[in-house]
Amino acid sequence: MPKKKFVFVCTDDDCKKAGSKALCKMVKDKKGFRLIKTQCMDACKKAPNIIMNEALYSKVAKDNLAEMLNHSASAD
Ligand code: FES
Repeated sequence: MPKKKFVFVCTDDDCKKAGSKALCKMVKDKKGFRLIKTQCMDACKKAPNIIMNEALYSKVAKDNLAEMLNHSASAD
């Protein structure tokens, strides 16, 4: 069974206001990925923020995340 990939999504105030809830749902619904909700990543000015493959991504829009998840899923 392949390992799930972890995606950390900040759900603290600024990221929540910037749409992190929708990003959480996308990760949760994507097969092969595991959502980890986190507190502030100290990059609030560039909300919403996520960490994926050990890198911080800022100002993540839903379209961007969809591409990132698809790319990461096909990178195995
Ligand atoms: S609230 Fe998300 S990085 Fe600070």
